[in-house]
Amino acid sequence: YSDPSQKIDYVFKVVLIGDSAVGKSQILARFARNEFSLDSKATIGVEFQTRTLVIQHKSVKAQIWDTAGQERYRAVTSAYYRGAVGAMLVYDITKRQTFDHIPRWLEELRNHADKNIVIILIGNKCDLEDQRAIPTEDAKEFAEKEGLFFLETSALQSTNVEDAFLTVLTEIF
Ligand code: GTP
Ligand code: MG
Repeated sequence: YSDPSQKIDYVFKVVLIGDSAVGKSQILARFARNEFSLDSKATIGVEFQTRTLVIQHKSVKAQIWDTAGQERYRAVTSAYYRGAVGAMLVYDITKRQTFDHIPRWLEELRNHADKNIVIILIGNKCDLEDQRAIPTEDAKEFAEKEGLFFLETSALQSTNVEDAFLTVLTEIF
């Protein structure tokens, strides 16, 4: 999908949100650089990375923003969401609390982002099946009720990371 040499037809801003340590930064590292680190440090403030893809014969520059899940390290909320056309709402399939907080993140998103923003719910760390705390069906049901896309991913094993971004980017398109 990548050919950075060509002209850019569209720039799409997508934001990552969710509790600390669910794997937002590693999902981004996997998507943008095909990298993964087990000793990833908590994000402080905001970071972003870009990757250019070809979708339906147009070159799309995805500008992915990543902020801290921890309140004290978070970026200014309104600036973070400004101009975002996609959002990835991430929880950790092995940590019940990170899923229980999803409605709060969704509320923040709905209070600050454009009302047409495309949202995908992501259950990350699906490589840790033996530690699963959230059944896939529960998340799927929640996503359907709220009108969100849904996928389970593993940044570690690369599972569905590409698909998750493509789902959002294609729908924005
Ligand atoms: P904050 O920046 O504090 O909001 O956290 P974050 O959501 O960015 O989490 P981060 O990407 O830093 O990952 C937290 C930890 O989970 C790190 O030790 C990662 O290596 C690990 N991790 C991330 N994704 C996966 C995954 O898919 N599988 C497994 N097993 N571990 C993962
Ligand atoms: Mg982070």
